[in-house]
Amino acid sequence: MTDLNQLRTELLAAVEGASGLDALEALRVSALGKKGRVTELMKGLGAMGAEERRAAGQAMNALRDAVAGAIDARKASLEGAALDAKLAAERIDVTLPPRPEAEGRIHPISQTIDEVVAIFGEMGFSIAEGPDIEDDFHNFTALNIPPEHPARQMHDTFYFPEKPDGGRLLLRTHTSPVQVRTMEGVKPPIRIIVPGRTFRSDSDMTHTPMFHQVEGLVIDEHSHMGHLKGCLIEFCRTYFEVPDVPVRFRASHFPFTEPSAEMDIGCSRAGGELKIGAGDDWLEILGCGMVHPRVLQNCGIDPDKYQGFAFGMGIERIAMLKYGIPDLRTFFDADLRWLRHYGFVPLETPSLVGGLSP
Ligand code: DAH
Repeated sequence: MTDLNQLRTELLAAVEGASGLDALEALRVSALGKKGRVTELMKGLGAMGAEERRAAGQAMNALRDAVAGAIDARKASLEGAALDAKLAAERIDVTLPPRPEAEGRIHPISQTIDEVVAIFGEMGFSIAEGPDIEDDFHNFTALNIPPEHPARQMHDTFYFPEKPDGGRLLLRTHTSPVQVRTMEGVKPPIRIIVPGRTFRSDSDMTHTPMFHQVEGLVIDEHSHMGHLKGCLIEFCRTYFEVPDVPVRFRASHFPFTEPSAEMDIGCSRAGGELKIGAGDDWLEILGCGMVHPRVLQNCGIDPDKYQGFAFGMGIERIAMLKYGIPDLRTFFDADLRWLRHYGFVPLETPSLVGGLSP
């Protein structure tokens, strides 16, 4: 009996002192496993007389249960401690800002396109796109610019080599051909906005051979010049974030619209600094007009039933005006320092509810 008591004391102390789950398991095997010390003792029961066996059996069962119970308790406490340590080590403060800070920046062209799309999207326009490589019909003829029209010279077109049939593909000189492609493809009502690349063989302080435009087109049975004005005034006030920016429409000429206009917004240049808003000066922003009936006809739309308006503007130009970027050519220098300065944080997507620009 004293042997059993001694063994019990020894084992319980060992259980209590087990430093980890592995050590505890090793201890369990050495005490209660098939060849464990307690198990070996119990194997001796068979050789005992009945009286002795009952007493010894009871004592050994009690020893085995005590050791097993102590092991279970110790195991639970070691597991709890291990979980606490893990939770403490992996603790994350979800209220901290994300780190490391995002390195990339959104190019002002992309930002401006996103802003324009957010504004017109809210007015019910959807995005349309067309190819950079166009044919003569879509870029010119369908838009009421026939072969000898002076507007063709003004566009400084990049042409591809002549094809055997005499036709020549070209790099689109404006986004207006997407008007034609859309009208050819869907029945009115049409309400689209077309951001995209455009190309002209022109390069100086204020021109780059590749630049960007946004085209707008609305065709239905009722839209008139008043809608055109309301739509574009709303756009300018929202985009420039100057609610009372003065605007004016000047008569102009484009072959694909009749009547045609150019839209100016008010500004001041006092002290050499350009400020958008009320002032004594004007800035040209875009070209627009009512779609010419001949254009509708060229696209298979009945001009007696349908009418609408169109507009086009340069993305670089409105980006420079809003964000105070002085030199057009820097947009395409791929200079990281410039991009870090003028670029935008990727997670701040422009929207009218969330805020247009940071
Ligand atoms: N396509 C013209 C350009 O590149 C801009 C333009 C003017 C587009 C008037 C239009 C418009 O849709 O109605 O200069």
